[in-house]
Amino acid sequence: MSQLQGKIAIVTGGSRGIGRAIAETFVREGATVVICGRKQETLDAVAAEIGPAVKPLACHVGRADDIRRLVDFAGPVDILVNNAGTNVAQGPCLEMDEAQFDKMVEVNLKSAFRLMNAVAPGMCERGSGSIVNIASISGLRPQLHGMLYSMTKAALIMMTQSYAVELGPRGVRVNAIAPGLIQTKLSEYYWKDDARRNSQIDRQPIRHLGQPREIAEAALLLAGEGASYMTGQTLTIDGGFLLSSI
Ligand SMILES: NC(=O)c1ccc[n+]([C@@H]2O[C@H](COP(=O)([O-])OP(=O)(O)OC[C@H]3O[C@@H](n4cnc5c(N)ncnc54)[C@H](OP(=O)(O)O)[C@@H]3O)[C@@H](O)[C@H]2O)c1
Repeated sequence: MSQLQGKIAIVTGGSRGIGRAIAETFVREGATVVICGRKQETLDAVAAEIGPAVKPLACHVGRADDIRRLVDFAGPVDILVNNAGTNVAQGPCLEMDEAQFDKMVEVNLKSAFRLMNAVAPGMCERGSGSIVNIASISGLRPQLHGMLYSMTKAALIMMTQSYAVELGPRGVRVNAIAPGLIQTKLSEYYWKDDARRNSQIDRQPIRHLGQPREIAEAALLLAGEGASYMTGQTLTIDGGFLLSSI
């Protein structure tokens, strides 16, 4: 049986990569999925490819007005996936400026805060809902020259736990996923470099480059009833990369 039959989901950053794979997987399981990204025409093209159960709306997740429009457009939401993210501000900690700090917080962190606060009250009223936050293994270990990214992902993991504690008694589960290296546009600076890609994969017990669908299947588990006794957790999906310490 379809695991998400009749459910309504929002997946931010659904125009490509992990978000698109999550949208495709949720639609396969019977959900209606509202996707957002910054360009309406890109989203329209993705919706045309996946099918009519995808509802596209342009929304910059760093903007409060856009978030409100997205939530109004979606209607009563059963599942929220905070996936949109950026890793633009890379470099040594001492070279980061306040504008970069603010941008990373706005897009990677405040977006999730705004969306959860906009969507969760309705979930609580209805007594059910599932929120999945896409964090990163960089939120569990510091990424060299990725302090701002790591910081926002670490905070997203703690935000997940904090909301889980408060919303659980009201029927809403909140979990996170910490992907390792996944083959998408965001990480192409890394996996397109043969030396970096190979050294990463050599450290993984599972020796292939992670694919978006491998994160999407975990998001499906967390979104659906299969995870009815799970909340506040962060699933690390990295081919075992973090196991190698020496
Ligand atoms: N790939 C990895 O190795 C990896 C590892 C760990 C965690 N992650 C996390 O996984 C999530 C998805 O990343 P990905 O790898 O799938 O990256 P991606 O292929 O670059 O996709 C990012 C998505 O987010 C959207 N987006 C970016 N900025 C946005 C904004 N301000 N407002 C609305 N949408 C925005 C993009 O659409 P537009 O550009 O059209 O707006 C796109 O749909 C991110 O949170 C990332 O941090 C990725």
